[in-house]
Amino acid sequence: METLNHAKVTRVALVGAGAVGASFAYQLTTASLCEELVIIDINKSKAEGEAMDLNHGVSFASSPMRVWAGDYTDCGAADIVVITAGAPQKPGETRLDLVEKNAKIMKSMIGDIMASGFDGIIIIASNPVDIMTHLAWKYSGLPKHRVFGSGTVLDTSRLRYMLGDYFNVDPRNCHAYIMGEHGDTEFAAWSNARIYGKSVEQLLEENDEYTWEDLEEIYVNVRDAAYHIIERKGATYYAIGLGLLRLVKAVLRNENTLLTVGAHLDGEYGLNDIHIGVPAIINRQGVRQVVEIELSEEEKQKMHHSAEVLLKTMEPVL
Ligand code: 2OP
Repeated sequence: METLNHAKVTRVALVGAGAVGASFAYQLTTASLCEELVIIDINKSKAEGEAMDLNHGVSFASSPMRVWAGDYTDCGAADIVVITAGAPQKPGETRLDLVEKNAKIMKSMIGDIMASGFDGIIIIASNPVDIMTHLAWKYSGLPKHRVFGSGTVLDTSRLRYMLGDYFNVDPRNCHAYIMGEHGDTEFAAWSNARIYGKSVEQLLEENDEYTWEDLEEIYVNVRDAAYHIIERKGATYYAIGLGLLRLVKAVLRNENTLLTVGAHLDGEYGLNDIHIGVPAIINRQGVRQVVEIELSEEEKQKMHHSAEVLLKTMEPVL
């Protein structure tokens, strides 16, 4: 009888079993996207605890999955490595304050991942994410489409949620992007936004209740959301965990879907040799294509300002 021993087992490796990593891992166990999840953390006992806890829920999930606490050598057979490890933001700290600490950690992690023979896709969530993604890509030597960051995927989701609330419509009908740095210089690309098919200008013209001031306030709330949450509960993790799951799903299901990720730019938006939040089509290859949407002059300036801040902050660690 013919045996089907060529079936490939899909493996996701997670580096970092902190709150972000654990939230992502938890979502992954319910998502039926892969058969294996290996959790790697400098604190092996924490990784073991997470693996045990997650395994104990697997019988409730819709498909079986093997979760274990492993080592970097386990990355060799992984399709995707998701990196969430790094020093987190403390109250009052910006994401950019973390750059030197996390650059060192990133170098050592990528060295170990690549030494395993890994030849898949790396997704970075460690902050400051745009810089960490750029460094991870450089240290890895992988092609640019195979290393990308969570970029502004979470900020875009925050924006869509708040717009959905404001316009009283499903957030999934709010097509609007946050672009630029995942941080203080990010901006909302309003000129491109479509809410249930209508431009923001049109909605504002049609209804006196809606104002640009309110939209500006929404943007500020999106930009500062992490500060607001960190002040209250010390960290953010559920939404970024879901954001990472969305990215992993886009890759493993070969979705060819548009998400705002930290992608490498090669002339797009007039920028070079930088990773920054832009809309990009994600599929099994990683970043299939960076999409250059039409920006207003003001938005173009904001994009360039964001890039300048990132490049300047990155200089000492390059
Ligand atoms: C966030 O935006 C802290 O980058 C993290 O929630």
